[in-house]
Amino acid sequence: MSLTQSNYTQTSAALPNAMVIFGAGGDLAKRKLIPALLHLCNAGLLPDSFAVLGLDRLDLDDDSFRDLMGEHIRDHVGAAFDQAVWERLIGRLHYMQIDMLDGADYERLRGRLSEIDTQRETEGNYLFYMAIPPSLFPHVTSRLGETGLLQETENDWRRVVIEKPFGQDLESAVALNHELHDNLDERQIYRIDHYLGKETVQNIMVFRFANGFIEPLWNHHHIDHVQLTVAESVGVEHRGAYYEEAGALRDMIPNHLLVLLGFIAMEPPNSFESSALRDEVNKVLDAIEPLSPEDVLRHAVRGQYGEGDMPSGEKVKAYRSSPGVDLQSRTETFAALKLTIDNWRWAGVPFYLRTGKRLAAQCTEIAIQFKKAPTVIFKNTDVEQVDPNMLVLRIQPAEGIQMSLGAKVPGPTMGVGIVNMDFCYEDYFGNKPATGYETLIYDCMNGDATLYKHADTIEKGWEIVQSVMDVWAALPPRDFPNYAAGTWGPTAAGALLKNDGRLWRRIKIPNK
Ligand SMILES: NC(=O)c1ccc[n+]([C@@H]2O[C@H](COP(=O)([O-])OP(=O)(O)OC[C@H]3O[C@@H](n4cnc5c(N)ncnc54)[C@H](OP(=O)(O)O)[C@@H]3O)[C@@H](O)[C@H]2O)c1
Repeated sequence: MSLTQSNYTQTSAALPNAMVIFGAGGDLAKRKLIPALLHLCNAGLLPDSFAVLGLDRLDLDDDSFRDLMGEHIRDHVGAAFDQAVWERLIGRLHYMQIDMLDGADYERLRGRLSEIDTQRETEGNYLFYMAIPPSLFPHVTSRLGETGLLQETENDWRRVVIEKPFGQDLESAVALNHELHDNLDERQIYRIDHYLGKETVQNIMVFRFANGFIEPLWNHHHIDHVQLTVAESVGVEHRGAYYEEAGALRDMIPNHLLVLLGFIAMEPPNSFESSALRDEVNKVLDAIEPLSPEDVLRHAVRGQYGEGDMPSGEKVKAYRSSPGVDLQSRTETFAALKLTIDNWRWAGVPFYLRTGKRLAAQCTEIAIQFKKAPTVIFKNTDVEQVDPNMLVLRIQPAEGIQMSLGAKVPGPTMGVGIVNMDFCYEDYFGNKPATGYETLIYDCMNGDATLYKHADTIEKGWEIVQSVMDVWAALPPRDFPNYAAGTWGPTAAGALLKNDGRLWRRIKIPNK
């Protein structure tokens, strides 16, 4: 990634490499990875010396693998599909059937990769992408290590992309990091969170640090509170069995929401180098005040959706009726937290986080509410109060920035109304087709880990939510389901802010 340029404006192709996709017949590979490679190919960002080697247990050869990917690519790329570009990419796709649990298959893999490397001149650089169940990560990396495939020389590199979830709790995350470190240096590990591939997340940093007027306001003197929302209108789809084990808190808060919080709250880094950014994010996570069991009862809310009507009019069933979900399930599909950051900049500023499934809208945003202006100059007028300014960083959909300002309502009397200054990326920079994985894959090929997660960040995220998980496990919920699909979550989520004299922002998605 280059933060001085925008996504897709890079002009140079990535370094030569062979990308080995473990789980190439799976959902992630078909829906995201191959489409992302097509977009990179279209943008001229894949090197000429490039190949993909797909691995899975499906009985396929190169041709039938290409056919399989071809069957899906149009659905996932949509109108952006370009046959000529696809033909450029497809010739570089290779396949090998493998049982990832069988050590002997890794010797075959070594031989096959060596052939591809010579044929495609990929210079011995291998990017191993783990699009497989997390339980296999330690096993696969260990077999790769034993086979010597993770061994770098002065002239080539070996990198491993790990998909979330990075553990199920603090203990398992620490164990996973240990297991990965048995065979890999931390600098070879790329833990991916595609939310961080989004342009607006990168733009948080540009917005904060390239605009001189923002930084002086970015602190407890001027900011009343911050709201982070990752709302999904979809249910668990076909991932019920996975979600039953995860739940909204584990699935979204330690990774996506806390890292967004880190970018919003961090001090200016010395540079955009990945280690400088990571250190600043980690300092924020370190400064989050731990939640005692009493705090969890007061500052954490969980919910599960029952049946309901979505804003589109669609009637949807309760979470407990989803495939793979227990009829008595106690898994939360909604979680909200109030956190505070114990440092100079943020003393006394609450950060409210919420995430859930089957909510009233599909959106990710960060809303920063400024303190109210004094109304003293309006005395003896009809103005009783002036609404505070709110700055909204929209991550999806319609990525952009919105600022609400008070303005005089035209007329003979004094009235103050709220007007919005609204900037949408698409209006200025166009809309590039993207899955969210393009920047991240390109960065990994170039050895830039800025948007990837370090072991420390993962463990700190789990430390923060562990006390919530412990209390919730000890006190199973008795009121589930406690919100209707198509709403903004349980009443207790509203009360979390109301008790502090605040309200969740009423989210309106711009028509784009
Ligand atoms: N799908 C998404 O949108 C998404 C989003 C974020 C993160 N992720 C993460 O990405 C990873 C992959 O997810 P996914 O949804 O693509 O899973 P998936 O559809 O189950 O794909 C995994 C593939 O690996 C194959 N496989 C599993 N064990 C194997 C073995 N021992 N030998 C050979 N092949 C084996 C599977 O074959 P079988 O089907 O025959 O088992 C399947 O084709 C997971 O870690 C997930 O948490 C996925």
